[in-house]
Amino acid sequence: MKISVIGAGYVGLTTAACLAEIGHQVFCADSDEQKLAKLRKAEVPFYEPGLSPMLQKSCAAGRLEFGTTEEAIDRSECIFICVGTPPLENGEADLSAIEAVARMIAKRASDYRLVIEKSTVPVQTGSQVRRILMLHSTNSLDYDVASNPEFLREGTAVNDFFHPDRIVVGVESTRAADLLREIYKPVLDKTFTCPVHPNCTKNTDVRFLVTDTNSAELIKHASNSFLAMKISYINMVANLCEVVGADISKVSEGMGLDPRIGRAFLNPGIGFGGFCFPKDLQAFVRMAEKSGCDFSLLREVEKINKLRIERFIEKVRKELWVIRGKRIGVWGLAFKPNTDDVRFAPSLVLLQALLQEGAIISAYDPEATEKAQAVMPNIKYCADAYEAVKGADALLIVTEWEQFRQMDWNKVSSLMESPLIVDGRNMFDPQEIGAKGFRYISVGRESVAPPPSAANAAASSSPSMRHEKQPQDSTV
Ligand code: UDX
Repeated sequence: MKISVIGAGYVGLTTAACLAEIGHQVFCADSDEQKLAKLRKAEVPFYEPGLSPMLQKSCAAGRLEFGTTEEAIDRSECIFICVGTPPLENGEADLSAIEAVARMIAKRASDYRLVIEKSTVPVQTGSQVRRILMLHSTNSLDYDVASNPEFLREGTAVNDFFHPDRIVVGVESTRAADLLREIYKPVLDKTFTCPVHPNCTKNTDVRFLVTDTNSAELIKHASNSFLAMKISYINMVANLCEVVGADISKVSEGMGLDPRIGRAFLNPGIGFGGFCFPKDLQAFVRMAEKSGCDFSLLREVEKINKLRIERFIEKVRKELWVIRGKRIGVWGLAFKPNTDDVRFAPSLVLLQALLQEGAIISAYDPEATEKAQAVMPNIKYCADAYEAVKGADALLIVTEWEQFRQMDWNKVSSLMESPLIVDGRNMFDPQEIGAKGFRYISVGRESVAPPPSAANAAASSSPSMRHEKQPQDSTV
């Protein structure tokens, strides 16, 4: 099928490349000339595992092309709108880019178009798009508007496209439902060659859920807000664990064994970030309020999330006493691993606060350095994780990149001024890392001091957390 995708951000570009990979003829548009220039050379302007080789393959085969929005409208019957919906000052989603595209479609297209919203939008956006199409249509355009919310996660977006838990389509006509089923047929029938797993046996039964447009739009916002709520919930339970001497890892495990709860998204830490959860939560609350529904439950979720950074810094303060002049090594800047995205990343708020208190920061991230540097130029960015801890009074773990599990801990310890780790992502077993000679503070678990032989004067003289244990010897 001929398909156009308007907007080449994380969602749009991944969707375009994946649709081309399953055999469609895809035209992807973006208004940013610089981005287009890169894409025309088959270069991906951000880091997303697996995307680049797939995109290069489809471009070379002529199945994926890039150009302007006008061309995208002319080329295909089915048009995915994947433009940005950033937050306004009041938390509502800014839908001006969606409106502009709808208007352009109305003015340009002369025969049938299926306009599919993929950007995350508030409920009833589809009705507004329909209204714009009707209002501005100059060529008696025949159209359908559908909602096909995107559930892909950054870092695993390609995998999520090929192996979705569900495909949701919100439609108002059988024609639109049939076209969308046709688009996703290769995924539903599993007739594609999986670019992620060799000899792939996944996708036995993907549910294709057809709803009305309002319900589909709501499914997306309600899902993201629910997941955000799960994270804030477990973060509060983690706070309680720290006070009463329980272990959040065990609590999450025990809760997650109940299939009604599930283990996913019960990892406590320094809070959720990224371009989806924080803005979607705000937009959902605003939309509910405008509709006369008091969703203050979600306001609490947001509030709890904002307090995560302060609580984390409080742990650092407790350990270092004075932050001014202290050297702090930071591992991880991206809002989560396997992405270079720092939008609404907890790291930015954390580092800004530490800078204000006079800390000297050296940070390392495997992929996000360039993007972090653009918004926070006044810290030192390091070429590797070891450089970031040179002379450090503390190491803060902010993003749980897999490579941080494979470190030479003797080297890390010898490079640091004082072997103190404050881990915002619970990457390590406290006992094991303590046995390596580190004082280790994490989230919702006991703090661990190194065994007496490895103890370092600075660490042992620092004010201790409650429920502190001496580790048994073991390896990390
Ligand atoms: C999210 C949704 O998962 C996805 O379905 C939607 O399409 C877009 O928004 P994404 O923002 O890529 O995806 O990341 P996700 O993996 O959901 O994580 C979001 C944030 O929550 C990250 O900052 C992550 O570190 C944090 N998180 C996640 C936790 O703090 N604890 C958890 O248990 C899970």
